[in-house]
Amino acid sequence: MITVDEYLKEQEIDEELTASVIEFRKEYPVDACVKDRVVMPDMLFYGKDILQMALAALMQGENLLLSGAKATGKNILCETLAWVFGRPAYDISFHVNTDSASLIGTDTFVNNEVQLRKGPVYQCAQYGGFGVLDEINMAKNDAASVLHAVLDHRRRIDVPGYSKIALHPATRFIGTMNYGYAGTKELNEALVSRFMVVDMPPLDEEILRFLLRKYFPDIKEKALEQFAGFFLDLQTKAYNGEISTKSLDLRGLVAAIRTVKSKLPPFFAIRMGIVNKSFDIFEKEIIEDVALTRIPEEWTRADVFERG
Ligand SMILES: Nc1ncnc2c1ncn2[C@@H]1O[C@H](COP(=O)(O)OP(=O)(O)OP(=O)(O)O)[C@@H](O)[C@H]1O
Ligand SMILES: [Mg+2]
Repeated sequence: MITVDEYLKEQEIDEELTASVIEFRKEYPVDACVKDRVVMPDMLFYGKDILQMALAALMQGENLLLSGAKATGKNILCETLAWVFGRPAYDISFHVNTDSASLIGTDTFVNNEVQLRKGPVYQCAQYGGFGVLDEINMAKNDAASVLHAVLDHRRRIDVPGYSKIALHPATRFIGTMNYGYAGTKELNEALVSRFMVVDMPPLDEEILRFLLRKYFPDIKEKALEQFAGFFLDLQTKAYNGEISTKSLDLRGLVAAIRTVKSKLPPFFAIRMGIVNKSFDIFEKEIIEDVALTRIPEEWTRADVFERG
């Protein structure tokens, strides 16, 4: 298992910045009751420049907004950052039912007394957590208004009927948002102004090869080239508007390659992991054609893995 120090060195992060991160970890020990929220992700984020920007901004007390297309590693980066700073992580996702009460907390009766059952933003404030505001652009006004005071210099939560709560000095919030989707909601200006924004670049060949090799150390070079090429072909088509971004699904690609281990022929695995996720027959045809040019139908497990 890799240590934070080793990871930052491997990613060639500036030494002074690394030293300040290590210092931060020492300065803010984690409360025993939330220790189980400090976890090392099973896959760490790969990408020096993005990592360096994110670390520098968080170090200076800023909140981060990660914007980018699907599968650009936004959530992986959030998890990696919480681990690097040694903070408990809180997932706070925004959907139609997320309102101010679900963020801060709700009144409940305990032994005939009203008590606040603390929501994730409250806990994050209390324990110096890293709160991941997932798909923050989907936040309704009621939820967004809670975030205003939390995210700016006031660094506090107003709980109606309770006193104001100041944020622990180690608390940070990291928002994520997708763009490039039909139906993407813009984030309102007042919220955007409270973040430093990182634009996540699309996966390129080098990163893709590195990632697939990490997941599958025994993948054959030829297969690696074809699977990475397949993904990049789809990416080009999606960016040119020929297909939607639905099929740009790295999780699906990884799942497909994994199924080949159980002897499913690679082309069928790609169908299940990627092609069939498109429910538009024209789009599906395009994706299947791309797959056929990259992954020969006659391929078997032996074409993909060394010990096939
Ligand atoms: N730079 C990267 N370093 C490590 N893993 C990456 C990177 N980019 C993408 N991935 C991989 O891509 C997959 C999707 O990553 P993640 O869930 O973080 O993306 P996302 O941007 O949050 O996507 P979505 O918009 O679908 O929520 C994961 O399996 C992750 O390992
Ligand atoms: Mg995500």
